[in-house]
Amino acid sequence: MSDLDQLRTDLLAAVDSAEGLDALDAVRVQALGKSGTVTGLLKTLGGMSPEQRQSEGPRIQGLREAVADAIATRRDALERAALDARLASETLDMTLPVDAVAAGGVHPVSQVMDELAEIFADLGFAVATGPEIEDDWHNFTALNIPETHPARAMHDTFYLAGDHERPMVLRTHTSPVQIRAMKAAGGTQPVRIIAPGRTYRSDSDATHTPMFHQVEGLVIDKGITLGHLKWTLETFLKAFFERDDIVLRLRPSYFPFTEPSAEVDVGYTVINGKRVIGGDPSQGEGGWMEVLGSGMVHRKVIAAGGYDPDQWQGFAFGCGIDRLAMLKYGMDDLRAFFDGDLRWLKHYGFGALDVPTLSGGVGA
Ligand code: DAH
Repeated sequence: MSDLDQLRTDLLAAVDSAEGLDALDAVRVQALGKSGTVTGLLKTLGGMSPEQRQSEGPRIQGLREAVADAIATRRDALERAALDARLASETLDMTLPVDAVAAGGVHPVSQVMDELAEIFADLGFAVATGPEIEDDWHNFTALNIPETHPARAMHDTFYLAGDHERPMVLRTHTSPVQIRAMKAAGGTQPVRIIAPGRTYRSDSDATHTPMFHQVEGLVIDKGITLGHLKWTLETFLKAFFERDDIVLRLRPSYFPFTEPSAEVDVGYTVINGKRVIGGDPSQGEGGWMEVLGSGMVHRKVIAAGGYDPDQWQGFAFGCGIDRLAMLKYGMDDLRAFFDGDLRWLKHYGFGALDVPTLSGGVGA
């Protein structure tokens, strides 16, 4: 056997007996690498006579190709064997139960805020916001609650340490957003907004928490009357409680920022010992429940918002969101809303992907 044939036999045997990809690569380097045996032979071609090169060239090239082909074939076989081994050892049982994944939920307050935005969007209202750390002017003075006014004491305000020129408070209601929305509209265009958000008062019992939620409503336009207010509230409450037989009662009241002012009650009936909003409140154990405050925007408030009160009128209302949620979804302790107890949230919360309850919208 010539040296070349011997080399071919040795190399092909080494390729075939390589037990893994690393061993195979070592054989490749040894034969075809920069200083490999076959590479060395190829280099000798340059120093040969033309005749010798013609006879030796094809043999050496043939050797190189044979070794390269053998390596490629062996690599395929080794890779397939590795894959087979993995497939045999890793099994996946598609019938096993899936581990439970804790899914987040929507808090009833967020749900009600979404419902409010949806209902009032149908009536042409935009959603407005204002700061929770509010200055005393927006929270009180601009709303016709001057410094000496008893309503300031009534609000159990959280005051913030700050400068005397511009005292700051945690807003006690969402009404300051009325002023901000009017200012933003520039005194020349109608305003139609709701402003849901957090509000604060130093108060705590089963129906009061220091932080709670309100929604403010404001319409400023020309020729606005109490009739517009009543229709809007009726339409809103019917859509919110998803009942057509909601009856409202407007009771004369007093708020510094409205004149005249009215507290609004909704009729309830008693079914299986539970109060249910809607139905005829004069029947059986039925009665009235207060749900919001409202009125025609006071001239001074219209002026503080930058509008001419001789030309523009408006109505406003303010309503506790937590209370709306309690009435609609049946919770009875407000404090539980903000305890962050997962059992409560699981029970009263809404699935993030649930279809909104108000699929019909207003007037559907
Ligand atoms: N801001 C009042 C409160 O927190 C609620 C309210 C009453 C808002 C009458 C209004 C309104 O806009 O017109 O008690």
